[in-house]
Amino acid sequence: MAHSAYLLGHSDNEHQRLTLQNEAISPFTERTLRSAGVRPGMSVLDIGAGLGYVSLLAAGLVGPGGHVVGIERDPGSVRKAWILAQEARLADTVRYEVADLADFTWPEKFDVLVGRYILMYLPDPVAALRRLTALLKPDGIVVMHEMDFTNTSPTRPPLPEWDEYYALWPGPFLATGAVPDFGPRLARTFLDAGLRQPEVDTWTPVAGRSGDPAVLDWLSSTCREIATPLRNAGVPVPDHLRFDDALPQRLRGLVLSREVRVDGPTQFGAHARLMSRAPHE
Ligand SMILES: C[S@@+](CC[C@H](N)C(=O)[O-])C[C@H]1O[C@@H](n2cnc3c(N)ncnc32)[C@H](O)[C@@H]1O
Repeated sequence: MAHSAYLLGHSDNEHQRLTLQNEAISPFTERTLRSAGVRPGMSVLDIGAGLGYVSLLAAGLVGPGGHVVGIERDPGSVRKAWILAQEARLADTVRYEVADLADFTWPEKFDVLVGRYILMYLPDPVAALRRLTALLKPDGIVVMHEMDFTNTSPTRPPLPEWDEYYALWPGPFLATGAVPDFGPRLARTFLDAGLRQPEVDTWTPVAGRSGDPAVLDWLSSTCREIATPLRNAGVPVPDHLRFDDALPQRLRGLVLSREVRVDGPTQFGAHARLMSRAPHE
């Protein structure tokens, strides 16, 4: 069901990038989980948990009376996720399973299925969603968070140095069958998987002039981390572009000194309930 390996790998640098990414986007994920109706006492299945950041957000919402199971096929990520859960004092609410979601099963049904940046990597996201919603209770909730990083003019006033790196992001994803603009496809994917028309909310993170420093850190570090996937996928890169460790700092310096506003990838949060609850519930 899944591509053979996670495109960006599981190095320490990538884990650092995922942490920056989480800081930048977690308010939107949390808002989506809340508007989907995730609340105390619920049970949650988090698919493609990575370092467990979505699992931890969900654990905070369901509280000690609920529980969260995060599934992730990379054992190294699960080890780190477990340490983070302990540091967040949420180890009683969260557990992680090293498993591939293609054949994951569980003895009890969940209230909520959640996933962030996972459908975009699956060769058949409709089949995956259909199979995994079978692990939900009849009135279960499906919440998916995806993005779109195919916007072509992200800087104002234009900063060509930034635009050149950002324009390279989609290449390795497309080359490996992952979908860089999965966000706008969420509603169709829910319907094709037999779910209801989801409610979809969007948000574009902004960096630089009057933007969030966490967003600038996330985007500039991704411009460097994309180097390995570009090389692995054999995507041609202009000779003058360098991907050294100082790249994120150089890009941040340019954005701030030239007072540029940078749009990040637009975020899409979609949620739908399998069946309506009776009005008295
Ligand atoms: C982009 S990361 C997102 C991590 C996390 N959801 C977050 O938002 O911080 C995607 C994760 O999904 C995992 N993954 C991809 N395909 C998978 C599969 N078939 N089964 C389990 N995990 C998978 C990858 O190993 C990777 O850690």
